Amino acid sequence: MMRQAGRYLPEYREVRRSVSFLDLCRRPNLAAEVSLQPFRRFQPDGVIFFSDILVPLAAMGAKVEFGDGGPQLPEPIRSASDVDRLRRFDPSEAVAFTGEILAALRNAVGEKAAVLGFAGAPWTLATYLIEGGGSRSFSVIKQMMGRDPATLRRLLDLLADVVGEVLSFQIASGAQAVQLFDTWAGELTARDYRAWALPAAARAISRIRLAAPHRTPVILFVNGCGHLIEAMAESGADVLSVDWRVSLREARRRAPGLALQGNLDPGLLLGPPEEVTRRVADLLTETGGRAHVVNLGHGVLPETPIASAAAFFDAVRSGTLGSRPSAVGRTGTGEMLKA
Ligand code: CP3
Repeated sequence: MMRQAGRYLPEYREVRRSVSFLDLCRRPNLAAEVSLQPFRRFQPDGVIFFSDILVPLAAMGAKVEFGDGGPQLPEPIRSASDVDRLRRFDPSEAVAFTGEILAALRNAVGEKAAVLGFAGAPWTLATYLIEGGGSRSFSVIKQMMGRDPATLRRLLDLLADVVGEVLSFQIASGAQAVQLFDTWAGELTARDYRAWALPAAARAISRIRLAAPHRTPVILFVNGCGHLIEAMAESGADVLSVDWRVSLREARRRAPGLALQGNLDPGLLLGPPEEVTRRVADLLTETGGRAHVVNLGHGVLPETPIASAAAFFDAVRSGTLGSRPSAVGRTGTGEMLKA
């Protein structure tokens, strides 16, 4: 479940009472514990390590703050000299704690579940750096696209290299699949997606392929991706994670040969558990039983009742005739995705 560890869980809120969000990300024991909370409750087939897409930006030297209104970057990147001040880093030094969390998770879950790593895709990271936080119109980055394309290109290339190195480090530390979150790339026209976000995501993915000895599955998520499926399929990713606005049948038709992930509307989890059960059954039918990772179409909402989250996991398990992948080791994950 996307953002499966978080504020809808009372045991997560309890941990957060005594530690700030960024401190939680940087303390391996606590972060591993929080990653395992949803695993203990729901036994999903995947455990995503607890962190945030903005953690690598802090390691690049950006000032990152998490307030009640979402993340803030009070010193946004707006010029070529701002880009010059960002630095590349060695993940095994600057974000060594992420490797420790992943290693602890691999130890804790063994063969019972796959451990997933993740990073923000370059375009989405650039929106946070340039806009200085979340945005509705993305006016500053779009202005840079039109007026200072060379600077934006340089920033995206830098971010692609950082993301590639961060994900390669996560794989070396125990991640058996990695997800690239390009949450805000759906704001682009298909033409601009191909010109800006896609080449940067593809560059990050090609760096992972060079570094990793095994072909670790790469999952690419874009929120609001209905107009981008064909382009996303050219990224080099093995799995496309799609939101609920596009039907799985259509996504499969437009990305033949790739596995899909998704796409229950997280808002449905705010309704009664019985409806969640019905909608999951419909979703499973729509997958045609092939090459699919059942997931939400975006992050679980903090208001989600536990009973509805539980109904989601139960319905997936009973709908797949109780079959769980027998082995989810390095090859198991890949086979599951190709099956
Ligand atoms: O999935 C998981 O369980 C792993 C943890 C995870 C978090 N963030 C924890 C988190 C993951 C995979 C992310 C990714 C992330 N972070 C994305 C991409 C996925 C998406 O949802 O689109 C983005 C855009 C971010 C940036 C970010 N971090 C935002 C917009 C927020 C505020 C969210 C909100 O609902 O207010 C965060 C904070 C954040 N990241 C929280 C968690 C559990 C809430 C922090 C808290 O108050 O405890």
